[in-house]
Amino acid sequence: MYPSGTLRIDELTTEERAVYAALKLERLPEHVAIIMDGNGRWAGHRSLKRFQGHLQGAKSVQLVTETASRIGLPWLTLYAFSLENSLRRPRAEVNFLMRLLKSYLECNVQRMMDNNVRMRYIGRTHELPPEVQDKMRWAEEATARNTGTTLTLALNYGGRSELVDAFRSLAAEIEQGRIRSGSITEEDIHRHLYTAHMPDPDLLIRTSGEMRLSNYLLWQVAYTEIFVTERFWPDFRGIHLLEAIADFQRRERRYGGLSEGSGEVDEQVEQQVEQVKIAAV
Ligand code: FPP
Repeated sequence: MYPSGTLRIDELTTEERAVYAALKLERLPEHVAIIMDGNGRWAGHRSLKRFQGHLQGAKSVQLVTETASRIGLPWLTLYAFSLENSLRRPRAEVNFLMRLLKSYLECNVQRMMDNNVRMRYIGRTHELPPEVQDKMRWAEEATARNTGTTLTLALNYGGRSELVDAFRSLAAEIEQGRIRSGSITEEDIHRHLYTAHMPDPDLLIRTSGEMRLSNYLLWQVAYTEIFVTERFWPDFRGIHLLEAIADFQRRERRYGGLSEGSGEVDEQVEQQVEQVKIAAV
C-alpha cells in the first residue's frame, strides 16, 4: 500500500482508473525499472527520421512518469542513455540525444513540480557534456524536496561499469582498513552501487520485444519480475504501465524458495531419498 498522501487517483484517465481499480493495493511494486526501446523502429515504421522517434519517446517519459506519480509509485528508473549508446551510435545521434535531454529538463521541471516528482540520476554522469550536467543538477535541486515518485534517469549508464565503480570504492575502503576483504557481504556491495539509496526493482519492463537485459541494473534485478511488451516506447503510456503492474501481480515471487503449501517433507519423500542413496551405491 502506498502512502495515501501521494495518491492522485482522480487524475487518472477513465481507462487507467479501470485497470487501477482491479489492482491489489497491498501488492503494488515499490520500484519499477524500464528499458525504453524501439524509438528508431517506431520512426522507421512511419517513414520518419530516428530523431522523431526520440522526440516522441521523450513525451512517453513524461506521461508515464505522471501516471506513476498519480498512483504513488515510490521509485521509477528509466534507462535513458547507456554507455554503449554513447560509444556505438553516430556522433550526430548522440549529440541530438544530449540536446533532447537538456531541453526535456528545461521544459518539464515545472511539470515534475506539479506532480511532486523528485529527479535523480545514475551512471557515469560526470562524463556527459558540462552544459547537460548543469541542467541535470538544476533539475535535481529544483525537485529535491518533492515527496512523491523518485524518477531516476540512467544516463551514460552500464551495469558492468556500475559494478566496476562499486568494486573500486569498496577496494578503497579495504585499503583504508575500514573493512576486511574476508568479511565483504552482499550488503557491502549494495552500499557502493549507484542505487544504494533505493530498493531493488520489483518489476522490469522492456518495450519493443527484445528479450535482453542490455547491461541494465545487473546486480539489482536478481529477483526482479520481467515484463516484455512488443509495443515501441513512443507508444507506451501510463495505462501500459498499469497493465504491466497487473501482470506482475499475477506472478508468484518465490526468491528461490517454494510456493506456499508445497514444502511438506513427508515420509514418502524420505523413503525416496533412501532409494536414491541405494541406487547410487
Ligand atoms: C531506444 O531507442 C531508446 C534510447 C536510445 C534511449 C531512450 C531515449 C529516449 C526515450 C529519448 C529521450 C529521453 C529523455 C529522458 C529525454 P532505439 O533508438 O534504440 O530504438 P531502436 O532499437 O528501434 O533503434
